Amino acid sequence: MSNVFPKWTNRLPLIALVGGLVTGACVIAGATYYFTPKYSRVGYQPVQPVSFSHEIHAGQLGLDCRYCHNGVEKSWFSNIPAAETCMRCHNSVLKDDPRLQPIRDAFENDKPIKWVQVHKTPDYVYFNHSVHVNRGVSCVKCHGRVDQMDEVKHAKPLSMAFCLDCHRSPHEHVRPQSEVFNLGWEPGEDWVAERDGAALVNKMKLRTSESCSACHR
Ligand code: HEC
Ligand code: HEC
Ligand code: HEC
Ligand code: HEC
Ligand code: HEC
Repeated sequence: MSNVFPKWTNRLPLIALVGGLVTGACVIAGATYYFTPKYSRVGYQPVQPVSFSHEIHAGQLGLDCRYCHNGVEKSWFSNIPAAETCMRCHNSVLKDDPRLQPIRDAFENDKPIKWVQVHKTPDYVYFNHSVHVNRGVSCVKCHGRVDQMDEVKHAKPLSMAFCLDCHRSPHEHVRPQSEVFNLGWEPGEDWVAERDGAALVNKMKLRTSESCSACHR
């Protein structure tokens, strides 16, 4: 047999195989990186029918979250307020402002406003607001500084790893119950001293679960 092909070509199939594997691995890694929630949802900020600003209402005017999201302590669901809640003020404030026309229409026709939902966990995950906000977990832990946002955006991954991070060491994340709705709260020295031991977990009787059935029922 004559050597038509130089000797190194014998290794071609191997090179092709290794090359293929590397490319394949990169594609999978890339897809995992970009399509897992951490990267695809953080930053999500849909355009809303009315450019409602939390910065103005919760930040500057200092309205409590529960003024509008009044279900958050009582149920799994944190409701979005109806137009009627807005009209308590806007029947006099910015009364004829065109930006508030959709609110006036919804109010007069008794129709819901079509807000675009920003945060959504998959159906196979069980989530409950009240169990968190009644146990010293502040909105800011899962939604960021909403009181400084002009338009709400998805600030935290809310992935399984994110949930488990806190369920594994809740004492690092909880705060006094009185500060749950105060998003700007920073732990003082006393609180830090107390929480850096088992004391806080015992005192608050925190029983966070890592078992699958807690969140997948
Ligand atoms: C004056 C009423 C009002 C107050 C006060 C208010 N909100 Fe809202 N909130 C709304 C409305 C209306 C929406 C829906 C439109 C939007 O997403 O901007 C909303 C949406 C949200 C969303 C996104 C919901 C989704 O679609 O996933 C979060 C999170 C939120 N609010 C948190 C807070 C927190 C935390 C506070 C207290 C610091 C607060 N809100 C105070 C009216 C209010
Ligand atoms: C407690 C009273 C109060 C409530 C309740 C309230 N607002 Fe306002 N809103 C204000 C005030 C005060 C301003 C600032 C007025 C100004 O700019 O002169 C304002 C400003 C606005 C603006 C103009 C924002 C800008 O960029 O200038 C919009 C839009 C608005 N509100 C929508 C809403 C919607 C939607 C709701 C219900 C979810 C709501 N507001 C509930 C008091 C309220
Ligand atoms: C432990 C994490 C966590 C905390 C704390 C938390 N949220 Fe949420 N929030 C979520 C998740 C997850 C969703 C998506 C739920 C779904 O799929 O319906 C959500 C959704 C929302 C929504 C959209 C409506 C809904 O229920 O689907 C609003 C409004 C909201 N949160 C407001 C608040 C406010 C106000 C607070 C503080 C009083 C708060 N949240 C505290 C995780 C949290
Ligand atoms: C910042 C801390 C924190 C984060 C983030 C968090 N949790 Fe929790 N979770 C808690 C605490 C504290 C409790 C209350 C435990 C108790 O009652 O003693 C709790 C309780 C629960 C419970 C009910 C009690 C149980 O464990 O059986 C469920 C279900 C739950 N969390 C699901 C979730 C899901 C889903 C997410 C992510 C979307 C999440 N949590 C994120 C702190 C957190
Ligand atoms: C504290 C709450 C919590 C616990 C405990 C938990 N999960 Fe999850 N899990 C989640 C959330 C939230 C998601 C959805 C993440 C997303 O938005 O895609 C999820 C997603 C999943 C998925 C879908 C694939 C993925 O990674 O997105 C699987 C499979 C899964 N969980 C299995 C498990 C198993 C097995 C256990 C027990 C070892 C477990 N989970 C415990 C909250 C939890």
